[in-house]
Formats: sequence, structure tokens, C-alpha cells
Amino acid sequence: MSDKRILLIVGGGIAAYKVLELTRLLRKGGFGVRAILTRAGERFVTPMSLTALTGEPVRTDLFDLGAEAEMGHIELSRWADLVVVAPATADLLGKAAGGLADDLASTALLATDKTVLAAPAMNVRMWSHPSVVRNVRQLEADGWRFVGPDEGEMACGEFGAGRLSEPEAIYDAILDALGQGRPAPPPARLSGPGPLKGRHVLVTAGPTFEPIDPVRGLTNRSSGKQGYAIAGALAELGARVTLVSGPTALETPWGVERIDVETALEMEAACRNALPADAAVMVAAVADWRPEIAADLKVKKTGGGATVRLVENPDILAGLSRKGSTRPRLVVGFAAETHDVARYAAEKLMAKGCDWIVANDVGLGGEGGPQVFGAETNHVTLVTRKGAEAWEPGSKRDIARKLAQRIGEALK
Ligand code: CTP
Repeated sequence: MSDKRILLIVGGGIAAYKVLELTRLLRKGGFGVRAILTRAGERFVTPMSLTALTGEPVRTDLFDLGAEAEMGHIELSRWADLVVVAPATADLLGKAAGGLADDLASTALLATDKTVLAAPAMNVRMWSHPSVVRNVRQLEADGWRFVGPDEGEMACGEFGAGRLSEPEAIYDAILDALGQGRPAPPPARLSGPGPLKGRHVLVTAGPTFEPIDPVRGLTNRSSGKQGYAIAGALAELGARVTLVSGPTALETPWGVERIDVETALEMEAACRNALPADAAVMVAAVADWRPEIAADLKVKKTGGGATVRLVENPDILAGLSRKGSTRPRLVVGFAAETHDVARYAAEKLMAKGCDWIVANDVGLGGEGGPQVFGAETNHVTLVTRKGAEAWEPGSKRDIARKLAQRIGEALK
């Protein structure tokens, strides 16, 4: 039995009736529940049924003096251990992403200091609309968690992602958000009518970690941000994306299947298993070498120096680019160069046999001085077999979107 408290914000949507079952599950599980109904929510469930199920007065109005005297809306937003928004409508998500507070629900969302878990529900076209996608990403970046939506037939007769998750799945996600249960199912893929719909794209990202012994290893300072942004942008355009990732501190982008690896050898095997793919984008900073022997036990100091013998790792990009039945139609590599960016990138393209190289200028030229790993912006040149094209410097997300668009065009 849980002794936790849930503030349940019920938006307006045909699926709101499922919230009654969720409330019943929560009460049965020992949770204290207080509910806020939005004006649109009131059209679908009545304050009476929610009051009966929660055993608490339901709040609907920001300016209800009686209710405010009992528990003010700021206090209410802090009373909870977790805030749950279900159904989270496009309107509620948009307000929250924009920081608006023009009713009780949006004000509570702005005032709370607790985690917010949202269970979206809306029409499939709304769910894949760029503004909703943008709002969800923003809220994820703000620390919101999401469960669903599920795919299936919708009340409006269309088919796709947008159905409110089942009460049991939302209940599991609540337990998970409170650190009390099994992990929630991954969010449904954004299955918009994007140019990459039906395509499978493999992306690698992050550093690799090459163990020396059980507690030490060789790694590098790649943050994984650019690769994750690319995986997310490809999914936004409708692709099925497999992201093979070295150790990072990043959240999996919406709609992306992530496979975690540590070493270059594991990354190579995971990439091979993910094939066939229509395109591969190798963004990972793969360690060029690994210790020849990873000791089973921690290596002890002996008072002198130590020598670690390194052997070369396989080149995953070159391996994938090799002609053969499993070669993706488009193979894209990344390169970090400090000078002569286009020339070195063109040489790398030929040496590795890939189709494009996205060369990142990490030199001293830019206004901000040297670009460092983990930075938010990149200055890249796209080198293809036809020539080089310098892109305007931009955020990693801008570059990811542009690259995803170009991949969409190339796979047409
Ligand atoms: N790559 C790979 N497997 C490796 C090494 C690199 O797949 N073992 C990929 C990276 O993901 C990236 C590209 O190859 O797409 C980078 O090539 P690399 O030659 O490692 O680039 P730099 O480290 O920039 O090369 P150098 O300093 O040797 O010019």
C-alpha cells in the first residue's frame, strides 16, 4: 500500500472517463488523491463522480473562495508527491510548455515543485503536429515524464498514436515515477505522416567506455547530445530509429528505441544486430583503442608506474560502409576537425567508404572560441561525393533537423 499523494489534473477529452478507473486503482493502492477538473474536463466527467471516488472535494475554479480557504491552490500543488495530468490535452501541454496560468489546472502546474507525469490523449494528427511535438520535447526537457499515448483506433475513427494509455499502464507509470514499481512502457512512436515514415535509421551516439579493470577505463568527453538530437529529429519525421548509445546522461528522445552499450565492440555488435536499415548515422565518438586486456580484478598500485597496452578497435563506420547486402543505402559519418575541414572530411569519406560526412568545425575560428564537447551549438560542413556545403552555425537541434530533412530527401 502506498501512502503517497497524487494531484490528478483531468483535461477535456473523450478518454477522460478512464480517469475514473485510474482513480479507483489509486485509492485501492492506498494513494491519497485530489483532483482538478478543467472546464473542458467537466464536459466529460462530473465533479460528483470524481468527488465520490477520491473522497475529497474536486476543484474546478481558480477563484473559488470556499475551496481556496480550505486549501489554497499553491498549497494544493505542493501537497502532492506527484502531479498526474490525464488526459493531457494538446491545450494543457501547450499552456504548460509556454508557462501560461489562466485557470486552476495550468496555475497548479506552474506552481508545483513536484514531478509531473502526463498521459496525453488527442487525435493522431494533433499528436504529430510540430507544435505538439515541440511542446512535449520542451516539457520533457523541463523534467516532465510521459506515459503513452497508445496506438489504435480513435474515437474520431482515425487510427494511430493518440489514445490515452490504459488506467493500469498509467498506474504503473505513477509507481515508476515515485520509484515504487516496474518501469513504464516506452512512449509510443510519433507516427506522423513524415517523409521518413516506413524507414529504419540506425544512429550511434555518445562515447564508448573501454575497461582497464572493473573500476577503471578509457573514455572521452562526448556528451551524446548531437546524436540524440539527430535520433529525435529522425523519429519526428516518422522514421523508426534505433539509437545505439554509449554511456550518457541523456533522456531517450521521444519515439526512439535505444540500445545501451559500453565498449566499441559492443557498439559494433549492436549495430550489426540492428540491420537492415535504410540509413545509418554514426555520431558516436568511438574510442580508437581499447586496453588489450581488461583485468578481472582491480589493479593495485605497486609504487611505480603502470603500462596499459592498447589495441585498435574496429571502425564501425567503415565496416557498415563496406559493399554488401546489408549496407544501408545511405551511410553518414561524423568528423571533428580543427582546420581544413572540407578537405580532411572529403579524405575521410573516401577512406571510410561512406556517402556523407558531417564535419564539425571544432577549431578556434568561431566567436565563442574553441567549441567544446557538450556545447549546445555546432558549426558543420556537409561533405558528400558531390562536394562540400558549409551550414550556418546552429544549435544541435537545428543541425539535427536539417540533417534529418536531408536524409528524408535522399531516401525518397
Ligand atoms: N567511427 C566508428 N568506429 C570507430 C571510430 C570512428 O564508427 N572505431 C566513426 C565515428 O562514429 C564517426 C567517424 O567514424 O562517424 C569519425 O571518424 P574518426 O576517423 O574516428 O574521426 P576522428 O576521430 O575525427 O579522426 P582523426 O582524428 O583520426 O582524423
